Amino acid sequence: MKNRENMRRAPGLMICRRPVRNAVFVLSCVGAFILGCLLTMMSVDPMSCDIYQCTEKIKHTAPEDTNSWLGSWDRYGKVAEKSVFLIIVILSAPGNIEQRNVMRQTWLSEEKSDTHHFFVIGTSSLSPDVNSSLQVEQKRFGDLLLLHNIVDSYQALTKKLLASFVYVHYSIRFRFLLKCDDDTYIQLPQLHKELKNVPYKQRLYWGFFDGRATPKKSGPWKEEDYILCDRYLPYALGGGYVVSSDVATFVATNSKYLKIYKNEDISLGTWLAPLDLHRVHDPRFDTEYKSRGCNNKYIVTHKQSTIHMREKFSSLKTTNLLCRDQFQVRKSYLYNWNVPPSQCCVRNNTSVP
Ligand SMILES: *[C@@H]1O[C@H](CO)[C@@H](O)[C@H](O)[C@H]1NC(C)=O
Ligand SMILES: *[C@@H]1O[C@H](CO)[C@@H](O)[C@H](O)[C@H]1NC(C)=O
Ligand SMILES: *[C@@H]1O[C@H](CO)[C@@H](O)[C@H](O)[C@H]1NC(C)=O
Repeated sequence: MKNRENMRRAPGLMICRRPVRNAVFVLSCVGAFILGCLLTMMSVDPMSCDIYQCTEKIKHTAPEDTNSWLGSWDRYGKVAEKSVFLIIVILSAPGNIEQRNVMRQTWLSEEKSDTHHFFVIGTSSLSPDVNSSLQVEQKRFGDLLLLHNIVDSYQALTKKLLASFVYVHYSIRFRFLLKCDDDTYIQLPQLHKELKNVPYKQRLYWGFFDGRATPKKSGPWKEEDYILCDRYLPYALGGGYVVSSDVATFVATNSKYLKIYKNEDISLGTWLAPLDLHRVHDPRFDTEYKSRGCNNKYIVTHKQSTIHMREKFSSLKTTNLLCRDQFQVRKSYLYNWNVPPSQCCVRNNTSVP
């Protein structure tokens, strides 16, 4: 009451006159409404918004955003932003400098100019002397991909693989990617030649497949979290496999959604399971946990010591054949895609290499 009287008695205060007061009220309502609309548009809840808004929102946030654990990396010197035909990703351990050197001196020395390799190593918590010898190696060869966020171990292989896919996706234009280990020997000229003529330039997943392996519950390779199936979904064994760049792109751009299993090859097979790919099973990929022997047909052969690598390289130089003597210690198989995976892989045909 008292206020109203004060107002009436103060004609100088225009704001308190009725028409003006109404205008102010209406304007603040409109302002609040517009502000509310803006705030709503800026914070779209993906569970309840119209499809157009949601799509716009997701387009603006998702693709570049990868796992935070990927952290930073040292670009390996020579080829950043280059365009190459084949990228070779070799998972290696910090201390395995001898393996790396023998690979550089043997099959990697036959790399063409359209092919580049790098060794992937986690450098978190390294001892100072191992760290500094890696720095020296990097200065000299420039072919290391050093991942500063990753503590190198068997447990880290899948993270190293995923980080490599993300790295190559964002840094290099390439056609095919070969993944192998630092105890894998590759007949690189032959692989290169076959890739030039491969019928599948896209959607390619090429290696030695397994579809009947049951999840291991103990030992270093145990997978305690494998809840998808009572077999690992069909995967190409990790000693060496090839994917086309579109497959690597799929993995890289979805990396934050992918579950990290212990084994990198099982992880990749599982990540790619729903995709419509050309899964090419090739017994010339000797990529199991132990080698099946030596066969001149092998393009990729795993579990090779540095001595074996030198032997194979010099045998190829002198006789044009991979093996001094061919032998088989473990039978191989052709993958049968027409039966359930548990029956895919019968080792009953001795003529399969
Ligand atoms: C390894 O050496 C580099 C360069 O000297 C340094 O930046 C990095 O912090 C070192 N890392 C470790 C784990 O010592
Ligand atoms: C091996 O087993 C598969 C599937 O059971 C069969 O189709 C194939 O004919 C067998 N091969 C030989 C050489 O027995
Ligand atoms: C055994 O493998 C060879 C290829 O290495 C193939 O030509 C042949 O058809 C296979 N035999 C059977 C019975 O599957």
